[in-house]
Amino acid sequence: MDDPAAALKREAGEQAALLVENGMVVGLGTGSTAAFVIAALGRRIQEGLKFTAIATSEHSAAQASKLGITLTDFGHHDGIDLTIDGADEIERKSLNLIKGLGGALLREKIVAAASRRLVIIADERKLVRHLGEHTAVPVEVTPFAWEATAHRLGRLGARVSPRHDRDDSLFVTDGGNLILDCNFGVIEDPATLERRIGEIVGVIESGLFIGRAALVLVAGADGVARFEPA
Ligand code: 5RP
Repeated sequence: MDDPAAALKREAGEQAALLVENGMVVGLGTGSTAAFVIAALGRRIQEGLKFTAIATSEHSAAQASKLGITLTDFGHHDGIDLTIDGADEIERKSLNLIKGLGGALLREKIVAAASRRLVIIADERKLVRHLGEHTAVPVEVTPFAWEATAHRLGRLGARVSPRHDRDDSLFVTDGGNLILDCNFGVIEDPATLERRIGEIVGVIESGLFIGRAALVLVAGADGVARFEPA
């Protein structure tokens, strides 16, 4: 099915791809918006741009290698100059994020944490007043005893749904883990929630990204708006 926001995602992605400079180590995000960045970077390589990249998912890695982007890893670099990634919700005032509907939140958070600059790209539907308005918080958990972990997440106030694939089997991440989508409703204090989720045994990471975005590019009917932390 056609994505009605595809043109906006492309616009944000292409602007963000212009931020990549020769010699950089670049973090490549995951999802339909990040795919436009990777495509634009593939075109820039044809024009002579030289950089190496670390991908946040097997899917993005496959797209990047097909386009001739050289992939590297943390064995060769202890930091990343610039990461460009999508998001599921962006809190307008704080630029805190929910990520992980695409299932890559763990690698995305590791890459974001190692990045000197995290640039988030999105279409305007992703901007919200408060995180949790439309989206559950994806939480990556170990498969062992996931039901017990789900129960504990429920005690934090979430309605918890294990994520499934189309064939109804449990969705398995690139790291071999499961995702529990945790609907907390509107989240008043995302930083505290991120910490409390992280304290639960069996949780690997949550899709709450607090204070990580250095720049957010949001494409809408009037062009691409830039948001930076206050
Ligand atoms: C994947 C993510 C994606 O960045 C997020 O889901 C946005 O995806 P899309 O650009 O397809 O809307 O966090 O884990």
